[in-house]
Amino acid sequence: MPPTMTSPLSVSTAATPRATTTHLSIDGVSKRFGSFTALDNIALEIQEGEFVCFLGPSGCGKTTLLRTIAGLTRQSAGRLTQRGKDISMLPPQARDFGIVFQSYALFPNLTVFNNVAYGLRNRRVERARINDRVAELLALVNLTGSEAKYPAALSGGQQQRVALARALATEPGLLLLDEPLSALDARVRGHLRSQIKALQARLGVTTIMVTHDQEEALTMADRIVVMNHGVIEQVGTPAAIYHQPASAFVASFIGSMNFLEVTAQANRQALLGNTPCACLPHTIAVGQAAQLAIRPEAVALSLQARALKHQAGALNGEVVSIEFLGAFQRVTLRLPEDHQTLIADVPSRDSSKLSLYVGQLLAIHLPAEAARLYAAGSSQQ
Ligand SMILES: Nc1ncnc2c1ncn2[C@@H]1O[C@H](COP(=O)(O)OP(=O)(O)OP(=O)(O)O)[C@@H](O)[C@H]1O
Ligand SMILES: [Mg+2]
Repeated sequence: MPPTMTSPLSVSTAATPRATTTHLSIDGVSKRFGSFTALDNIALEIQEGEFVCFLGPSGCGKTTLLRTIAGLTRQSAGRLTQRGKDISMLPPQARDFGIVFQSYALFPNLTVFNNVAYGLRNRRVERARINDRVAELLALVNLTGSEAKYPAALSGGQQQRVALARALATEPGLLLLDEPLSALDARVRGHLRSQIKALQARLGVTTIMVTHDQEEALTMADRIVVMNHGVIEQVGTPAAIYHQPASAFVASFIGSMNFLEVTAQANRQALLGNTPCACLPHTIAVGQAAQLAIRPEAVALSLQARALKHQAGALNGEVVSIEFLGAFQRVTLRLPEDHQTLIADVPSRDSSKLSLYVGQLLAIHLPAEAARLYAAGSSQQ
């Protein structure tokens, strides 16, 4: 498959979760719609105070899993435990969560005040307490003064902040967010992303956010759950997901990745055409077709092509295009090996040393510690 063309991402360097008590356990949860399996034997533990993102392509089961946790969808098999209590069979109103949906989150016929107060009224909280709590929540999401407005008079970002205040009103133990930012434009989304993250850290509320936006997941989550076709492909910190993808699918779904067709060799080797390449340890049998995955920013280019040209084991490539992307230049190279292409991201400060031009022959170095081998054809989504 061709390399994906997104830019390198900044990976959240958030410390590992502070708490170690389990908030939610998901044990062997499956969901079938007729003969279709939307969730297949999901097992996951979420810690108290953690911010977890469910990340994966459209249709992989993210919303179904979130709805199952909320009790809005009943699992076909498996068990859910929240703070040690089996909630598998409880209706939504008997579970402890607040939820924000992707769109149509607010009651259009209720003012901001009444939207936020909704859950509190249902619980027959006394009026003075409701007034205080709504004021406190609107201050929390920077919307003090908007009490009397109707949702239609608010921007998309403001509406989602009201929805967030409403979800937090009853002080739920668990906050569930289903793509809360996807309907917003990029600038508002970026701003609200940091607001939600800061709010969550301040309140310490255990949070699960569904997203198909890898950048959102990488920047916000303590841990990311990467899903595909109803199964969990990998659970890990943003850095682990980015730097040590457990499968070719995870490698292809997150960030940019080159996949080169190679033949597996013993130990830490692969053959790219006739050129041996060192890679991380792998379990693929010698002689088997495989794909060597390496991120564009890990590929090193140098000018020594002429000197290395006749040296065994040297990898060369011809520059076929150069894209200026600000902080770095994205260089596409054609390898002599089966006419495969490789993308290298060269930091702008280094690119002047190479004086890059189309048609140039460059030496390529694929650092072994950044080169991973996966079975051939396993990266399809
Ligand atoms: N009520 C339903 N009846 C039948 N099939 C359903 C139902 N709800 C979901 N599905 C199917 O289950 C699969 C997972 O759906 P889900 O909504 O969980 O995906 P998702 O990961 O949230 O995708 P998106 O990113 O597009 O929101 C899809 O193939 C969907 O068509
Ligand atoms: Mg969804």
